Amino acid sequence: MKIDGQHFRTIWLKENDPTTVQIIDQRFLPHKLIIEDLKKTEDFVNAIREMHVRGAPLIGGTAVLGLYIACLEAPDGEQGLNYITEALSRLRATRPTAVDLFSWTERVFQEVIKGQDKEERISIALQMSKQLIEESAEHCRMIGTYGFDLIKSISEENNGAPVNILTHCNAGWIACIDYGTATSPIYAAHDAGIPVHVWVDETRPRNQGARLTAYELGQHGVPHTVIVDNVGGHLMQHGMVDLVFVGSDRTTRQGDVANKIGTYLKALAANDNNVPFYVTLPHSSIDWDLRDGLSEIPIEERGSEEVKYIQGLVDGEIKKVLLTPPQSPALNYGFDVTPAKYVTGIITERGICEASEEGLLKLYPEQQLAVK
Ligand code: MRU
Repeated sequence: MKIDGQHFRTIWLKENDPTTVQIIDQRFLPHKLIIEDLKKTEDFVNAIREMHVRGAPLIGGTAVLGLYIACLEAPDGEQGLNYITEALSRLRATRPTAVDLFSWTERVFQEVIKGQDKEERISIALQMSKQLIEESAEHCRMIGTYGFDLIKSISEENNGAPVNILTHCNAGWIACIDYGTATSPIYAAHDAGIPVHVWVDETRPRNQGARLTAYELGQHGVPHTVIVDNVGGHLMQHGMVDLVFVGSDRTTRQGDVANKIGTYLKALAANDNNVPFYVTLPHSSIDWDLRDGLSEIPIEERGSEEVKYIQGLVDGEIKKVLLTPPQSPALNYGFDVTPAKYVTGIITERGICEASEEGLLKLYPEQQLAVK
């Protein structure tokens, strides 16, 4: 996707230096576009934990390139394997909810350990990381083509009036490699000339909606309005939302969806107002080993300072200001689980299905064998 007309992905190898990975440091968007060099495994661990990068597919992409850098750092032989295994554990200990962190690194690690020597491990890790990154971008593009049909048919029902889509957090290209998950159908519709308008939930505490979704939609010229998190229900009651598109950090085989905190409340409001609520995700965000999302998905709890402070631009400088009484405790769960019964459908790179084990298995029959 484009920033000021220039094509960007969220992560790439530095030109003429395959030992350095570059990312957009998302902490400073939308006010500053800062490109960060990641050179050591520890840089990757820190970038994921401190959310320089975020969003399930991008966390997956960053972690596998981190594993590649660990292969570069590792000595040869058995010791090297121990080093890589230890690096894998550190990368995986950064954030618990997005399953892409685990599914992508598992795929790369299982191949890397087959490498005969250091050189072969490096080459496997690099080649597989690149492949997964390309695959993920393509999956997001495909999600757009399926979601496009939904927007198109609502637009026809509305006689061409703008289709109002509500989204939560940032499941855009900034959270992925390219295109985004929830935003991919929106970009496809906009590019095809279908009028769309997006309600962007601010998404406290880190404001991924207000900062990132608004930024990328604006860069692409998609009409949008930022709303505080409490407004969605009211808009739905007044017929101002045609469709909800959200992403997912981990979806179970029965279709329970973990996504950014607050998603569940939007699903309840959508259900009460007969507004279709779709979850968009590449298959890398499905955890086939889990069924009951509420009891089985690990929910990240982050520091209370994210709730107590808010960040913004003050006289041209990015600053944090205290919102709460200094002594008030705050609680900061990062995600919630929307039970499958509130999800109208799941849009993946293979099509749209019911949010149920049966529905998902129709798209992914190969997962039948994996029943635990
Ligand atoms: O905590 P974050 O910002 O990493 O959360 C990820 C998200 O932005 C989402 O929950 C998103 O909707 C799914 S990732 C495409």
